[in-house]
Amino acid sequence: MCKTRFKILSIVLSFVLLFGTLFVPTSAIAPGDVNYDGKINSRDSLLLRQFVAGFDRHVAKSADLNNDGKINAADVLWLRLKIAKHDISAYTEEIDASFPKGWRRGVNMGNMLEAESEGAGGYRLEDEYLKVIAEAGFDFVRVPVRFSAYIDSSGNIDETFLQRMDHVLNACIDNHLGVIFNIHHFDALMEDPQTNKELFLKMWEQLASRYQHMPDSVVFELLNEPSRNLDVDQWNALQKECIALIRKTNPTRDLIVTGTNYSNAGNLPLIELPENDKHLIVTFHYYEPFNFTHQGASWTSGTSDLSGITWNNTKEERDQIDWTFQNIKAWSEETGIPVLLGEFGAYGLVADMESRVRWTTCVRETAEKYDFAWSYWEFCSGFGFYDTQTKTFNPIYNALVPQKGEN
Ligand code: BGC
Repeated sequence: MCKTRFKILSIVLSFVLLFGTLFVPTSAIAPGDVNYDGKINSRDSLLLRQFVAGFDRHVAKSADLNNDGKINAADVLWLRLKIAKHDISAYTEEIDASFPKGWRRGVNMGNMLEAESEGAGGYRLEDEYLKVIAEAGFDFVRVPVRFSAYIDSSGNIDETFLQRMDHVLNACIDNHLGVIFNIHHFDALMEDPQTNKELFLKMWEQLASRYQHMPDSVVFELLNEPSRNLDVDQWNALQKECIALIRKTNPTRDLIVTGTNYSNAGNLPLIELPENDKHLIVTFHYYEPFNFTHQGASWTSGTSDLSGITWNNTKEERDQIDWTFQNIKAWSEETGIPVLLGEFGAYGLVADMESRVRWTTCVRETAEKYDFAWSYWEFCSGFGFYDTQTKTFNPIYNALVPQKGEN
């Protein structure tokens, strides 16, 4: 009796295995076909992102796109690149989940929404740029925004401008790009923090509420480069107050926080943050040697008359970058807070392209060595790597996204 039962059971099992293999052969599910519907598209991307974010979702083994035995943020990135039809094998480096959110490469949409008004800096943030950026192998964009130009005296943000923001954020999502947006150029706050801090908080109250249902690929950055009269103590207090305010509507959204003195690396150890918040990423900006990266710049003091300063990739020059980044890494390991190099770049008015490429390569490689995500300043304006007229890239692009066989 027992034998017969066993026989029946093994026949049933063989059938299950045979037909199971015939109908859903695991090996036949293409890597990235997360919902195994025979297509690889934005539905797979959404499902995978939800799974990685901890939602109760079922994903096929094929979601392990990089085949490392784990399904995590790195796979989200692989899938995004795959959908953007970017040749993943073209990369020399491995994509790895140790970067914040699995993001590695980003670009600043500079001189667009943070200009006096959109377009006044020479560029509008066109949707087609986002497509170019995604296809060029970037994971995210940083969108600096001069919200203070669109508020009334009580801090209410203009609805038409908010609708423009809605569009920009949705266009990033449609292009499978992560997006960080911030409050940029709030000069009044830097000049007179006490008088203007309520306006700052009022803006975040509205933004946090409006965008609370956006996917987790939308990240808020509190303030660009706290500086001038906004000193360490005032900024520490205001940053904490702002985090608490945003947490009321966005308990788990990643927030980018920073230190004073223009997000200078040396000021990181002075930052005070709330304990037990696991969704903070710290950012710093790097433009050293400043006289090299800002030669010819009219908006920073003492740089407009500079020219002919080269960066030669000497050991001494490289060590200077490494030393700074190594210290930041040590701080990050101590605090457990991941790092974004939110801005770096060399202005192109008078600096020679060879030096700019050498410097950009070195800074980018050093950031990656220490698992910092990075976003280059900037896409197409004075520091940029893309010509919107000719639709071509300059050599800075290859310094940022090296193709196979290149360093
Ligand atoms: C500023 C830009 C400037 C860039 C490089 C950014 O933080 O907002 O106006 O071009 O730094 O100096």
